[in-house]
Amino acid sequence: MSEQTLVIIKPDGLARRLLGRIIQRFEDKQLQISQIKIETLSKAQLHEHYHHLVDQPFFPRLLDYMMEGPVLLMVVKGEQAISQTRKIVGATDPLEAEMGTLRGDFGVNKTRNLIHASDSVDTAQEEIARFFG
Ligand code: PPS
Repeated sequence: MSEQTLVIIKPDGLARRLLGRIIQRFEDKQLQISQIKIETLSKAQLHEHYHHLVDQPFFPRLLDYMMEGPVLLMVVKGEQAISQTRKIVGATDPLEAEMGTLRGDFGVNKTRNLIHASDSVDTAQEEIARFFG
């Protein structure tokens, strides 16, 4: 079934000039980038996006990281795009993520994990609406 999901390449992905290599992985898997933009996210946007994490002890660190610079937001579309994207991205903790996944290959730690991807149909719809209207 064709689906849409939201991917955010976090600030270090841009600073480390990894955009080309990251986007290539989605295109290699026949997924399509249907919307794309680069933006610096505000504190308010991040509080909304990570609303389920605001009480976590690591939240201030996550906020600082996400505000280091601009992020790339994209809508990725295609066959089972949500689960396929999460496979390409890999486990939340790059130290546990398989090599060959984006976080396994390029991520640093649980905070600096390079990339965000929606985790369900409902979340994907909500996140796409939040960032692309
Ligand atoms: S978990 O472990 O099931 O809560 O992970 P998940 O729901 O996928 O995502 C949690 C997001 O918070 C970011 N983050 C951390 N998670 C766990 N521990 C620490 N210390 C931490 N620091 C930051 C993590 O990168 C996930 O961000 P996204 O953008 O959703 O991948």
